[in-house]
Amino acid sequence: MSLTDTGHFQVFSQVNSSLIRDPVLVVSELTKVYPGRPPTTAVDRLSFALGRREILGLLGPNGAGKTTTIQMLLSTLRPTSGEISYFGQSLRAARATILAQVGFASAYSRLPRRLTVIENLDVFARLYGLRAGERASRIRELLERFGVWDLRRRSMESLSAGQATRVMLAKAFLARPRVALLDEPTASLDPDIAVEVRAFVRSQRDEEGVSIVFTSHNMDEVAQLCDRVIFLDRGRIAASGHPEELAASAAMTRVRLRVTHGLDRLLGHVEAAGLASARDDGTVEVEIDESHLADFLASLAQAGVRYREITLRKPTLEDYFLKLAGTAMGARTRQPAREEES
Ligand SMILES: Nc1ncnc2c1ncn2[C@@H]1O[C@H](COP(=O)(O)OP(=O)(O)OP(=O)(O)O)[C@@H](O)[C@H]1O
Ligand SMILES: [Mg+2]
Repeated sequence: MSLTDTGHFQVFSQVNSSLIRDPVLVVSELTKVYPGRPPTTAVDRLSFALGRREILGLLGPNGAGKTTTIQMLLSTLRPTSGEISYFGQSLRAARATILAQVGFASAYSRLPRRLTVIENLDVFARLYGLRAGERASRIRELLERFGVWDLRRRSMESLSAGQATRVMLAKAFLARPRVALLDEPTASLDPDIAVEVRAFVRSQRDEEGVSIVFTSHNMDEVAQLCDRVIFLDRGRIAASGHPEELAASAAMTRVRLRVTHGLDRLLGHVEAAGLASARDDGTVEVEIDESHLADFLASLAQAGVRYREITLRKPTLEDYFLKLAGTAMGARTRQPAREEES
């Protein structure tokens, strides 16, 4: 593993599948090599597990292997090697039984275009074995939830990208799945609908106990929603962990003070403590480990330092992503250009 080899991210090395209690999905040594000259190893001996009621974020730069992984988890793409099992059963051996309990949505895949919204969902509901009465009420409930009930008689081809995505999400949750695989489900959505989708995903986990794999390029969204994230880089796990812990490992909290009294004492204090800082007139920004913040502010008060304004900027998952990109992921730019990057 490139990142753990460098030693930077050892704390958050690959989570051992066996550590996840009660997993609904276990992936081991999953590999996909797309043929070509040269062949592309899109997913490279990937192992992870999804816990029951867990929301797991799959992150990584373009081409990292997220969509390829999800397609293999849906068995729409055949793995080159490796094993996938859901609920303790191998996907290969129990494909139909398993897939009846797995919902899928993506901003980039489409439902049959000629059929109307309601026809599409009705076909899926029948496929999933929902009874007639339940079909109609469940379809209505979900279309209303995603704000597209009024579009139910329109053909899929007449919908905008965001409208189609909302229908796709309704489809994913139609049959009350135990596991939902969501590949960039919020990619083409208005911010208010994206908020609604996140709330919905959370409620599906909290109220229905659904376990979810979620990919997104929106780091804030992932940090808000996911219990755990896995960063993929060239098909391998570059790092994984809790979003807040990862963020905190990448950067310090920044405290900005507009000092009205005792500026010199403050600067002396910062220097003595060996903290990084920047100064602009009477405004000082100090980088500090969040756990030392209270003590730091107390000591300033004791030293008679007064300030008018204080702002805190906590590290974000984006800081972590950028740090990761600056280390191991950055190595790719020094390698010969790969096929997909040309
Ligand atoms: N059908 C295909 N044939 C050949 N190579 C492919 C194919 N599909 C994907 N790839 C390659 O596999 C790698 C992983 O692609 P994938 O779509 O899984 O990435 P991703 O993480 O979903 O990226 P993005 O963030 O852009 O959606 C890329 O290098 C891509 O070019
Ligand atoms: Mg993708």
